[in-house]
Amino acid sequence: MLDVRDLTTTYGAVRALDGVTFTAPQGRITAVLGANGAGKTTLLRTLSGLVPAASGSARLGDTDLLTTPAEEMTRAGLAHVPEGRGVIAQLTVEENLRLGALGARGGGRKADLDRVTDLFPVLGERRHQVAHTLSGGERQMLVIARALLADPAILLLDEPSLGLAPRIVTQIFDLLRGLVDDDGLTVVLVEQNARSALSISDVGLVLDLGKVVVHDDAAVLVDDATLRHAYLGF
Ligand SMILES: Nc1ncnc2c1ncn2[C@@H]1O[C@H](COP(=O)(O)OP(=O)(O)OP(=O)(O)O)[C@@H](O)[C@H]1O
Ligand SMILES: [Mg+2]
Repeated sequence: MLDVRDLTTTYGAVRALDGVTFTAPQGRITAVLGANGAGKTTLLRTLSGLVPAASGSARLGDTDLLTTPAEEMTRAGLAHVPEGRGVIAQLTVEENLRLGALGARGGGRKADLDRVTDLFPVLGERRHQVAHTLSGGERQMLVIARALLADPAILLLDEPSLGLAPRIVTQIFDLLRGLVDDDGLTVVLVEQNARSALSISDVGLVLDLGKVVVHDDAAVLVDDATLRHAYLGF
């Protein structure tokens, strides 16, 4: 379980996170929602050690995330798929995947590579294609597959649906749901697309100006029209 308490992150005078407290239960999807600039990306970047916290705590099981260096996060069981679908453009799909397996807790066996290409058949078909020639959706699948190869306990995803066709979004979200239900993966899903995110999530967390304004079952957020109109835009 991810346990975050009173987490504050500042960029100079900007308090991007201001005393954020929540837990993300194991084997569940927690959707992190909120307007542009609410602090969603900062939350993920703080948890994965890419920006330092000013105060508070964040623990993943026994691991203190705030004192774990970013390069040791994979071994600690945390994988972060940042915004923007970064792949190594000149390498093939397979080479990108093999990089994801480096430093994996299980050592990145061939069986794992076969497993992610089962999950994303298109990546198997395109394993020898150079990554910069993939479509946006294929590239998003590649970065998620690469993160899964590290065999994470928790997967942090920053706007995986951005710019993708609705059909591809549904496909990726269904696959995430399957990984959570079948393998006990824990997911923290940052999304602008609140409606789709909540449809596959167990819990919803809404940030506003760096503070948690709602933290409840996803179904409660979906059913509360006032709250939806105020924060979620649907
Ligand atoms: N490197 C930085 N330096 C200064 N301010 C920053 C930096 N990164 C983010 N901020 C500020 O921190 C606040 C939170 O930004 P953050 O990127 O976490 O928001 P977000 O919820 O992910 O927004 P979006 O939905 O647009 O991606 C914003 O006011 C932003 O301008
Ligand atoms: Mg963001």
